[in-house]
Amino acid sequence: MKVLVIGSGGREFAICRKLKASALIDEVYCAPGNPGMERIGVHPVGIQENNFEALAAFASQHAITWTMVGPEDALADGIVDYFTSNGLKIIGPDKQAAQLESSKDFALNFMQKFHIPTAQHQTCTSMEEVDAVLAQTSYPTVIKEDGLAGGKGVFIVENQKEALKVLATLKVSPQTPVIFEEYLDGPEYSIFVLLNQKSFQILPVAQDHKKIFDHDRGPNTGGMGAYSPVPQFDQAAFDRTVKEIVEPTINGIHTMGFNYTGIIYIGIMMTANGPKVIEYNVRLGDPETQVVLPRIKNDFGKLLTECVDQEILDPIGVDSQAYVNVVLAAKGYPQNYVKGQQLPDFKIQGQGMIDYANVAVDDQERLVGNGGRILSVIGIGDSIKEAQANAYKILSNHPVSQTYYRHDIANRAVQK
Ligand code: AMP
Ligand code: GLY
Repeated sequence: MKVLVIGSGGREFAICRKLKASALIDEVYCAPGNPGMERIGVHPVGIQENNFEALAAFASQHAITWTMVGPEDALADGIVDYFTSNGLKIIGPDKQAAQLESSKDFALNFMQKFHIPTAQHQTCTSMEEVDAVLAQTSYPTVIKEDGLAGGKGVFIVENQKEALKVLATLKVSPQTPVIFEEYLDGPEYSIFVLLNQKSFQILPVAQDHKKIFDHDRGPNTGGMGAYSPVPQFDQAAFDRTVKEIVEPTINGIHTMGFNYTGIIYIGIMMTANGPKVIEYNVRLGDPETQVVLPRIKNDFGKLLTECVDQEILDPIGVDSQAYVNVVLAAKGYPQNYVKGQQLPDFKIQGQGMIDYANVAVDDQERLVGNGGRILSVIGIGDSIKEAQANAYKILSNHPVSQTYYRHDIANRAVQK
Protein backbone atom coordinates (compact mmCIF):
# COMPACT_ATOMS: atom_id res chain seq x y z
CA MET A 1 0.00 0.00 0.00
CA LYS A 2 0.91 3.68 -0.29
CA VAL A 3 0.72 6.12 2.61
CA LEU A 4 1.04 9.87 3.06
CA VAL A 5 2.64 11.69 6.00
CA ILE A 6 1.87 15.39 6.58
CA GLY A 7 4.68 17.66 7.81
CA SER A 8 8.31 18.41 7.07
CA GLY A 9 10.47 18.16 10.21
CA GLY A 10 12.56 15.66 12.11
CA ARG A 11 9.47 14.07 13.63
CA GLU A 12 8.05 13.41 10.17
CA PHE A 13 11.44 12.07 9.03
CA ALA A 14 11.33 9.53 11.86
CA ILE A 15 7.71 8.59 11.07
CA CYS A 16 8.59 8.09 7.39
CA ARG A 17 11.67 6.03 8.26
CA LYS A 18 9.59 3.71 10.42
CA LEU A 19 6.89 3.37 7.74
CA LYS A 20 9.54 2.61 5.08
CA ALA A 21 10.51 -0.40 7.22
CA SER A 22 6.94 -1.78 7.17
CA ALA A 23 6.35 -4.99 5.23
CA LEU A 24 2.87 -3.69 4.30
CA ILE A 25 3.99 -0.42 2.73
CA ASP A 26 5.38 0.03 -0.78
CA GLU A 27 5.65 3.82 -1.01
CA VAL A 28 5.83 6.61 1.55
CA TYR A 29 4.98 10.19 0.48
CA CYS A 30 5.49 13.21 2.69
CA ALA A 31 3.84 16.62 2.15
CA PRO A 32 5.66 18.92 2.01
CA GLY A 33 8.48 16.74 3.40
CA ASN A 34 12.10 17.80 3.02
CA PRO A 35 14.87 16.96 0.54
CA GLY A 36 16.76 14.89 3.14
CA MET A 37 13.94 12.34 3.04
CA GLU A 38 14.87 11.30 -0.49
CA ARG A 39 17.97 9.68 1.03
CA ILE A 40 15.79 7.08 2.73
CA GLY A 41 13.55 6.56 -0.30
CA VAL A 42 10.65 8.78 0.82
CA HIS A 43 8.97 10.98 -1.80
CA PRO A 44 8.53 14.64 -0.80
CA VAL A 45 5.36 16.12 -2.29
CA GLY A 46 5.27 19.84 -3.06
CA ILE A 47 2.04 20.61 -1.21
CA GLN A 48 1.94 22.69 1.98
CA GLU A 49 0.38 21.14 5.08
CA ASN A 50 -2.42 23.74 5.26
CA ASN A 51 -3.61 23.17 1.68
CA PHE A 52 -6.22 20.54 2.59
CA GLU A 53 -7.88 20.56 -0.81
CA ALA A 54 -4.66 19.79 -2.69
CA LEU A 55 -3.61 17.20 -0.09
CA ALA A 56 -6.93 15.37 -0.33
CA ALA A 57 -6.77 15.48 -4.15
CA PHE A 58 -3.25 14.01 -4.00
CA ALA A 59 -4.40 11.23 -1.66
CA SER A 60 -7.29 10.31 -3.98
CA GLN A 61 -5.26 10.46 -7.19
CA HIS A 62 -2.39 8.37 -5.80
CA ALA A 63 -4.59 5.74 -4.12
CA ILE A 64 -3.17 6.56 -0.69
CA THR A 65 -4.51 4.01 1.84
CA TRP A 66 -4.24 6.38 4.80
CA THR A 67 -2.62 9.66 5.84
CA MET A 68 -0.73 10.24 9.10
CA VAL A 69 -0.59 13.83 10.40
CA GLY A 70 2.61 15.10 12.05
CA PRO A 71 2.08 18.73 13.13
CA GLU A 72 -0.56 20.27 15.39
CA ASP A 73 -1.52 23.22 13.18
CA ALA A 74 -3.11 21.06 10.50
CA LEU A 75 -5.04 19.15 13.19
CA ALA A 76 -6.21 22.33 14.93
CA ASP A 77 -7.36 23.64 11.54
CA GLY A 78 -9.46 20.52 10.89
CA ILE A 79 -7.51 18.40 8.39
CA VAL A 80 -9.09 15.26 9.85
CA ASP A 81 -12.62 16.66 9.39
CA TYR A 82 -11.78 17.62 5.79
CA PHE A 83 -10.29 14.25 4.80
CA THR A 84 -13.02 12.27 6.57
CA SER A 85 -15.81 14.21 4.88
CA ASN A 86 -14.12 13.40 1.56
CA GLY A 87 -14.11 9.68 2.37
CA LEU A 88 -10.35 9.52 3.00
CA LYS A 89 -8.75 7.64 5.90
CA ILE A 90 -6.60 9.80 8.16
CA ILE A 91 -4.88 9.38 11.53
CA GLY A 92 -5.35 12.23 14.02
CA PRO A 93 -8.07 13.83 16.17
CA ASP A 94 -10.73 15.99 14.56
CA LYS A 95 -10.85 19.74 15.11
CA GLN A 96 -12.98 19.52 18.24
CA ALA A 97 -10.72 16.96 19.96
CA ALA A 98 -7.57 18.80 18.80
CA GLN A 99 -8.56 21.56 21.22
CA LEU A 100 -6.92 19.44 23.91
CA GLU A 101 -3.76 21.04 22.51
CA SER A 102 -4.98 24.19 20.76
CA SER A 103 -6.94 25.52 23.77
CA LYS A 104 -5.43 25.31 27.26
CA ASP A 105 -8.81 26.26 28.70
CA PHE A 106 -10.49 23.35 26.89
CA ALA A 107 -7.79 20.98 28.19
CA LEU A 108 -8.10 22.28 31.76
CA ASN A 109 -11.89 21.82 31.71
CA PHE A 110 -11.42 18.28 30.40
CA MET A 111 -8.97 17.46 33.21
CA GLN A 112 -11.29 18.90 35.81
CA LYS A 113 -14.24 16.88 34.52
CA PHE A 114 -12.29 13.61 34.66
CA HIS A 115 -10.33 14.35 37.87
CA ILE A 116 -6.96 14.27 36.15
CA PRO A 117 -4.21 15.86 38.28
CA THR A 118 -2.78 19.11 36.92
CA ALA A 119 -1.67 22.50 38.27
CA GLN A 120 -4.25 24.63 40.05
CA HIS A 121 -5.29 27.38 37.69
CA GLN A 122 -7.52 30.35 36.98
CA THR A 123 -8.62 31.54 33.54
CA CYS A 124 -8.99 35.31 33.09
CA THR A 125 -10.92 36.91 30.25
CA SER A 126 -10.58 40.55 31.41
CA MET A 127 -8.01 42.79 33.10
CA GLU A 128 -10.32 43.05 36.14
CA GLU A 129 -10.05 39.28 36.61
CA VAL A 130 -6.29 39.50 36.13
CA ASP A 131 -6.05 42.18 38.85
CA ALA A 132 -8.08 40.02 41.23
CA VAL A 133 -5.73 37.06 40.69
CA LEU A 134 -2.61 39.23 41.04
CA ALA A 135 -3.89 40.56 44.38
CA GLN A 136 -3.67 37.13 45.97
CA THR A 137 -1.15 35.10 43.95
CA SER A 138 2.13 33.77 45.33
CA TYR A 139 5.38 33.51 43.37
CA PRO A 140 6.80 31.97 41.28
CA THR A 141 3.66 31.67 39.23
CA VAL A 142 2.99 30.66 35.64
CA ILE A 143 1.19 32.79 33.04
CA LYS A 144 -0.01 31.08 29.87
CA GLU A 145 -1.57 32.33 26.68
CA ASP A 146 -4.46 30.25 25.35
CA GLY A 147 -3.95 28.76 21.88
CA LEU A 148 -1.03 27.24 19.97
CA ALA A 149 2.21 29.04 20.75
CA GLY A 150 4.89 26.54 19.74
CA GLY A 151 6.11 26.28 23.34
CA LYS A 152 6.60 30.05 23.56
CA GLY A 153 3.34 31.07 25.25
CA VAL A 154 4.43 30.09 28.78
CA PHE A 155 5.97 32.59 31.21
CA ILE A 156 7.31 31.70 34.62
CA VAL A 157 7.45 34.90 36.70
CA GLU A 158 9.20 35.42 40.04
CA ASN A 159 7.38 38.52 41.28
CA GLN A 160 4.61 40.98 40.53
CA LYS A 161 6.87 43.29 38.55
CA GLU A 162 7.74 40.48 36.15
CA ALA A 163 4.09 39.43 35.96
CA LEU A 164 3.04 42.95 34.97
CA LYS A 165 5.77 43.09 32.33
CA VAL A 166 4.51 39.85 30.75
CA LEU A 167 0.86 40.90 30.99
CA ALA A 168 1.64 44.18 29.21
CA THR A 169 2.54 42.10 26.12
CA LEU A 170 -0.66 40.00 26.21
CA LYS A 171 -4.17 40.84 25.12
CA VAL A 172 -6.73 39.63 27.65
CA SER A 173 -10.25 39.11 26.29
CA PRO A 174 -12.93 36.41 26.16
CA GLN A 175 -11.45 35.31 22.79
CA THR A 176 -7.86 35.42 24.08
CA PRO A 177 -7.94 34.31 27.72
CA VAL A 178 -4.86 34.31 29.93
CA ILE A 179 -4.36 31.47 32.37
CA PHE A 180 -2.59 31.68 35.73
CA GLU A 181 -1.20 28.37 36.91
CA GLU A 182 0.35 27.09 40.08
CA TYR A 183 4.11 26.67 39.59
CA LEU A 184 5.02 22.98 39.63
CA ASP A 185 8.47 21.58 40.22
CA GLY A 186 10.01 18.26 39.19
CA PRO A 187 11.36 16.31 36.22
CA GLU A 188 9.25 16.24 33.05
CA TYR A 189 8.49 13.18 30.92
CA SER A 190 6.81 12.72 27.56
CA ILE A 191 4.26 9.93 27.29
CA PHE A 192 2.78 9.00 23.92
CA VAL A 193 -0.36 6.93 23.62
CA LEU A 194 -1.69 5.47 20.36
CA LEU A 195 -5.45 5.19 20.51
CA ASN A 196 -8.62 4.62 18.59
CA GLN A 197 -12.24 4.14 19.64
CA LYS A 198 -11.61 0.58 20.86
CA SER A 199 -8.20 0.48 22.51
CA PHE A 200 -4.95 2.17 23.33
CA GLN A 201 -1.25 1.31 23.64
CA ILE A 202 1.45 3.29 25.44
CA LEU A 203 4.66 3.89 23.47
CA PRO A 204 8.13 4.03 25.08
CA VAL A 205 8.62 7.05 27.39
CA ALA A 206 11.10 9.81 26.47
CA GLN A 207 12.51 12.97 27.99
CA ASP A 208 12.84 16.23 26.04
CA HIS A 209 15.29 19.13 26.65
CA LYS A 210 13.36 22.33 25.90
CA LYS A 211 15.89 25.04 26.81
CA ILE A 212 18.41 26.26 24.27
CA PHE A 213 21.54 26.12 26.46
CA ASP A 214 23.30 23.46 28.55
CA HIS A 215 22.05 22.97 32.14
CA ASP A 216 18.54 24.09 31.05
CA ARG A 217 19.40 27.75 30.66
CA GLY A 218 18.09 30.32 28.20
CA PRO A 219 14.78 30.52 26.34
CA ASN A 220 12.50 27.60 25.51
CA THR A 221 12.83 26.04 22.06
CA GLY A 222 10.86 23.40 20.18
CA GLY A 223 13.27 20.90 21.83
CA MET A 224 17.06 20.51 21.63
CA GLY A 225 17.35 16.79 22.27
CA ALA A 226 15.67 13.73 23.73
CA TYR A 227 16.40 10.21 24.86
CA SER A 228 14.66 6.92 25.53
CA PRO A 229 14.50 4.85 27.70
CA VAL A 230 14.33 7.10 30.77
CA PRO A 231 15.70 4.99 33.68
CA GLN A 232 14.88 7.59 36.38
CA PHE A 233 11.19 7.20 35.51
CA ASP A 234 11.00 3.81 37.22
CA GLN A 235 8.28 1.18 37.09
CA ALA A 236 6.49 2.50 40.20
CA ALA A 237 6.39 6.05 38.79
CA PHE A 238 5.21 4.71 35.43
CA ASP A 239 2.45 2.57 36.97
CA ARG A 240 1.22 5.46 39.09
CA THR A 241 1.16 7.76 36.04
CA VAL A 242 -0.80 5.22 34.00
CA LYS A 243 -3.37 4.80 36.77
CA GLU A 244 -3.76 8.47 37.71
CA ILE A 245 -3.30 10.13 34.31
CA VAL A 246 -3.15 7.91 31.21
CA GLU A 247 -6.21 5.74 31.91
CA PRO A 248 -8.47 8.61 33.03
CA THR A 249 -7.39 10.59 29.95
CA ILE A 250 -8.25 7.81 27.52
CA ASN A 251 -11.50 7.04 29.38
CA GLY A 252 -12.34 10.75 29.22
CA ILE A 253 -11.74 10.89 25.46
CA HIS A 254 -13.96 7.84 24.99
CA THR A 255 -16.66 9.11 27.36
CA MET A 256 -16.78 12.48 25.59
CA GLY A 257 -17.26 10.58 22.30
CA PHE A 258 -14.41 12.51 20.68
CA ASN A 259 -13.51 11.54 17.14
CA TYR A 260 -9.94 10.74 18.17
CA THR A 261 -7.75 8.30 16.26
CA GLY A 262 -3.98 8.63 16.56
CA ILE A 263 -1.62 9.92 19.19
CA ILE A 264 -2.15 11.78 22.42
CA TYR A 265 1.06 13.11 23.93
CA ILE A 266 0.84 13.71 27.66
CA GLY A 267 3.55 15.99 29.05
CA ILE A 268 3.79 15.17 32.75
CA MET A 269 5.76 16.52 35.68
CA MET A 270 6.64 14.22 38.57
CA THR A 271 6.09 16.52 41.55
CA ALA A 272 6.47 15.77 45.26
CA ASN A 273 2.69 15.21 45.22
CA GLY A 274 2.72 12.75 42.34
CA PRO A 275 2.46 13.07 38.57
CA LYS A 276 0.62 16.08 37.11
CA VAL A 277 -0.26 16.94 33.53
CA ILE A 278 1.69 19.92 32.21
CA GLU A 279 0.11 19.79 28.76
CA TYR A 280 -1.66 17.64 26.23
CA ASN A 281 -0.52 17.57 22.63
CA VAL A 282 -2.51 15.78 19.98
CA ARG A 283 0.40 14.42 17.94
CA LEU A 284 3.87 12.96 18.36
CA GLY A 285 6.60 15.16 19.88
CA ASP A 286 9.66 16.55 18.20
CA PRO A 287 12.50 15.69 19.13
CA GLU A 288 11.11 12.68 21.07
CA THR A 289 9.70 10.78 18.06
CA GLN A 290 13.21 10.29 16.72
CA VAL A 291 14.08 8.18 19.82
CA VAL A 292 10.67 6.65 20.58
CA LEU A 293 9.77 5.10 17.21
CA PRO A 294 13.06 3.21 16.68
CA ARG A 295 12.42 1.39 19.98
CA ILE A 296 9.09 -0.03 18.77
CA LYS A 297 9.50 -3.58 17.48
CA ASN A 298 6.06 -3.77 15.84
CA ASP A 299 5.54 -3.17 12.15
CA PHE A 300 4.46 0.48 12.41
CA GLY A 301 2.49 0.30 9.16
CA LYS A 302 0.43 -2.54 10.63
CA LEU A 303 -0.09 -0.69 13.91
CA LEU A 304 -1.32 2.48 12.19
CA THR A 305 -3.57 0.44 9.89
CA GLU A 306 -5.18 -1.21 12.95
CA CYS A 307 -5.50 2.22 14.48
CA VAL A 308 -7.28 3.88 11.55
CA ASP A 309 -9.51 0.82 10.96
CA GLN A 310 -10.69 0.96 14.61
CA GLU A 311 -9.35 -2.50 15.41
CA ILE A 312 -7.90 -3.60 18.75
CA LEU A 313 -4.26 -2.48 18.68
CA ASP A 314 -1.50 -5.08 18.97
CA PRO A 315 0.58 -4.85 22.15
CA ILE A 316 3.75 -2.79 21.66
CA GLY A 317 7.04 -4.70 21.66
CA VAL A 318 9.94 -2.60 22.92
CA ASP A 319 13.56 -2.91 21.83
CA SER A 320 16.09 -2.82 24.67
CA GLN A 321 18.53 -0.51 22.86
CA ALA A 322 18.91 3.11 23.96
CA TYR A 323 18.60 6.15 21.69
CA VAL A 324 19.89 9.69 22.26
CA ASN A 325 18.87 12.49 19.88
CA VAL A 326 21.04 15.61 19.83
CA VAL A 327 19.52 18.39 17.71
CA LEU A 328 21.83 20.43 15.51
CA ALA A 329 20.33 23.92 15.31
CA ALA A 330 21.25 26.95 13.24
CA LYS A 331 23.26 29.57 15.09
CA GLY A 332 20.85 32.16 16.52
CA TYR A 333 17.94 29.72 17.03
CA PRO A 334 15.32 30.19 18.55
CA GLN A 335 15.57 33.84 17.47
CA ASN A 336 16.98 34.95 14.09
CA TYR A 337 19.08 32.24 12.59
CA VAL A 338 21.62 31.69 9.84
CA LYS A 339 20.69 29.59 6.78
CA GLY A 340 22.62 27.85 4.02
CA GLN A 341 25.19 25.89 6.08
CA GLN A 342 26.92 23.23 4.00
CA LEU A 343 26.13 19.87 5.60
CA PRO A 344 28.70 17.08 5.70
CA ASP A 345 28.30 13.63 4.25
CA PHE A 346 27.80 11.85 7.56
CA LYS A 347 29.83 8.64 7.77
CA ILE A 348 28.23 6.47 10.40
CA GLN A 349 29.09 2.86 11.03
CA GLY A 350 26.09 1.24 12.66
CA GLN A 351 26.08 3.30 15.85
CA GLY A 352 23.76 6.09 14.84
CA MET A 353 21.58 7.77 12.25
CA ILE A 354 20.65 11.20 10.94
CA ASP A 355 17.08 12.49 10.75
CA TYR A 356 16.89 15.62 8.57
CA ALA A 357 14.49 18.43 9.45
CA ASN A 358 15.04 21.97 8.13
CA VAL A 359 17.17 21.36 5.06
CA ALA A 360 17.22 22.54 1.47
CA VAL A 361 19.39 21.68 -1.54
CA ASP A 362 21.92 24.09 -3.06
CA ASP A 363 22.58 24.54 -6.80
CA GLN A 364 24.77 21.42 -6.77
CA GLU A 365 22.06 19.29 -5.15
CA ARG A 366 23.92 19.20 -1.81
CA LEU A 367 21.99 19.41 1.45
CA VAL A 368 22.29 22.72 3.30
CA GLY A 369 20.76 24.10 6.52
CA ASN A 370 17.47 25.91 6.02
CA GLY A 371 16.88 27.40 9.47
CA GLY A 372 15.90 26.46 13.05
CA ARG A 373 16.44 22.85 13.95
CA ILE A 374 18.42 21.51 10.98
CA LEU A 375 18.80 17.84 11.79
CA SER A 376 18.99 15.27 14.57
CA VAL A 377 22.00 13.11 15.27
CA ILE A 378 20.74 9.95 16.93
CA GLY A 379 23.23 7.82 18.83
CA ILE A 380 22.33 4.17 19.42
CA GLY A 381 23.79 1.92 22.11
CA ASP A 382 23.24 -0.85 24.62
CA SER A 383 22.96 1.81 27.32
CA ILE A 384 22.08 5.53 27.42
CA LYS A 385 25.73 6.22 28.15
CA GLU A 386 26.88 4.41 25.02
CA ALA A 387 24.15 5.98 22.87
CA GLN A 388 25.08 9.43 24.18
CA ALA A 389 28.79 8.84 23.47
CA ASN A 390 27.92 7.70 19.93
CA ALA A 391 25.79 10.78 19.22
CA TYR A 392 28.53 13.14 20.39
CA LYS A 393 31.21 11.21 18.51
CA ILE A 394 29.28 11.66 15.26
CA LEU A 395 28.89 15.37 15.97
CA SER A 396 32.56 15.94 16.81
CA ASN A 397 33.63 13.97 13.72
CA HIS A 398 31.44 16.14 11.48
CA PRO A 399 31.76 19.79 12.53
CA VAL A 400 29.26 22.16 10.86
CA SER A 401 29.95 25.89 10.90
CA GLN A 402 27.24 28.34 12.00
CA THR A 403 25.42 25.73 14.06
CA TYR A 404 24.90 24.95 17.73
CA TYR A 405 24.01 21.93 19.82
CA ARG A 406 23.71 21.16 23.52
CA HIS A 407 26.45 19.09 25.15
CA ASP A 408 24.41 17.64 28.01
CA ILE A 409 21.59 15.73 26.35
CA ALA A 410 20.72 12.64 28.46
CA ASN A 411 23.15 13.61 31.26
CA ARG A 412 20.35 13.22 33.80
CA ALA A 413 19.98 9.57 32.85
CA VAL A 414 23.73 8.90 32.70
CA GLN A 415 24.43 10.53 36.07
CA LYS A 416 21.72 8.55 37.80
P1 AMP B 1 3.68 24.04 27.73
O1 AMP B 1 3.71 24.89 26.49
O2 AMP B 1 2.40 24.10 28.50
O3 AMP B 1 4.18 22.67 27.48
O4 AMP B 1 4.83 24.61 28.69
C1 AMP B 1 6.16 24.68 28.26
C2 AMP B 1 7.06 24.43 29.44
O5 AMP B 1 6.84 25.38 30.49
C3 AMP B 1 6.83 23.08 30.09
O6 AMP B 1 7.52 22.06 29.45
C4 AMP B 1 7.34 23.33 31.50
O7 AMP B 1 8.74 23.18 31.56
C5 AMP B 1 6.99 24.77 31.76
N1 AMP B 1 5.72 24.83 32.49
C6 AMP B 1 4.47 24.85 31.97
N2 AMP B 1 3.54 24.89 32.95
C7 AMP B 1 4.20 24.88 34.11
C8 AMP B 1 3.80 24.89 35.49
N3 AMP B 1 2.51 24.96 35.85
N4 AMP B 1 4.77 24.87 36.43
C9 AMP B 1 6.07 24.84 36.08
N5 AMP B 1 6.51 24.82 34.82
C10 AMP B 1 5.60 24.84 33.83
N1 GLY C 1 8.85 18.09 22.31
C1 GLY C 1 7.89 19.09 22.47
C2 GLY C 1 6.83 19.10 21.47
O1 GLY C 1 6.85 18.37 20.50
O2 GLY C 1 5.90 19.88 21.65
